[in-house]
Amino acid sequence: MSKIKSYISGVGHYVPENIITNHDLSKLIDTSDEWITERTGIKERRYADEGVGPSDLAIPAVETALQNANLDKDDIGLIIFATISPDYYLPGAGSILQHKMSFPNIGALDIRSACSGFIYGLSIADQYIKSGAFEHILLVCSEVQSTTMDMSDRGRNVSVIFGDGAAATVISKTNENFGVLSTHLHSDGAYCKELWVKEPSTLSSNRLNAQSIKDGEHYVQMNGKEVFRHAVTRFPETINEALEFNNLTVDDIDLLIPHQANLRISKMVQKKIGLDDSKIFNNIQKYGNTTAASIPICISEALNQNKIKKGDILVCAAFGAGFTWGSSIIKW
Ligand code: ACO
Repeated sequence: MSKIKSYISGVGHYVPENIITNHDLSKLIDTSDEWITERTGIKERRYADEGVGPSDLAIPAVETALQNANLDKDDIGLIIFATISPDYYLPGAGSILQHKMSFPNIGALDIRSACSGFIYGLSIADQYIKSGAFEHILLVCSEVQSTTMDMSDRGRNVSVIFGDGAAATVISKTNENFGVLSTHLHSDGAYCKELWVKEPSTLSSNRLNAQSIKDGEHYVQMNGKEVFRHAVTRFPETINEALEFNNLTVDDIDLLIPHQANLRISKMVQKKIGLDDSKIFNNIQKYGNTTAASIPICISEALNQNKIKKGDILVCAAFGAGFTWGSSIIKW
């Protein structure tokens, strides 16, 4: 049996400089710092400048990740780009990044698994590495969501939550006994309309018409209560399946990095699985929900703060639009 494993050899992240506080938002829409803080834990988020896309935000993150991995662009065999806010509807952001950063003509695979994007991307990269197809894969997670939200009172339940940001990880091959121990992926499309962007759609002949713009159907729409209800069930479920698969228990977790959906969700998940405060990493307070990018931004910051050490058991779990959810256990 092959002993090849994949591991994260380099990580980098980048967030735009423009900080939008809850107070800033309260000048635009009918909301308050108190309402947002109490329900989401978020204090501020970052917004990219006009004309800056997720492929642009990704560049500094990729540069750092390559540097940390001690690799050059020529070493990368495949780009996986996870985003729900690509620069354009067509083509994918992966090929745009390939061009902007002058990567060789390697494959660029876009995935749209929303907040589960990092877990799905890691799972794909892990399989490619284990099959021997590639030695190093670049997994990029980048979102510019500030332009996808309704910044009027109508969209206030969504616009207070999401932010912009990017992270990149290099997934590499090893024959040693560490790295990605497992990935588990799930979805249930019955709930696709609970968190979605209806237009532009190939179902309507004009894709995007004046009425749908008037109705705000080109903005992210969310049934917050339904998302909350499912998230607090699916997170513990997929964390437990990952632990069981690896014959581990909650006590073996050195650090849990949940997708930064909402601090209340993270806290409830932490309580449900019975994890100490010191074993969970959250940074949603500073960045809001950065969808696919949230887990790798956390990994990058946790590494910078020396909160992940060699040999640690890192558990990552996500839940998001689709619905999609999943988990991964990484022995660092
Ligand atoms: N500021 C002030 N008031 C607001 C805001 C806001 N930003 N947004 C909604 N309200 C109002 C509503 O209009 C409503 O007023 P009404 O009672 O007069 O009609 C009231 O607050 C309650 O609205 P709800 O939508 O029922 O608000 P809820 O208490 O459910 O909180 C929230 C909304 C925070 C989104 C909550 O449902 C939640 O935490 N859901 C989880 C969803 C989530 O976190 N998603 C993250 C992204 S998805 C993901 O990553 C998995």
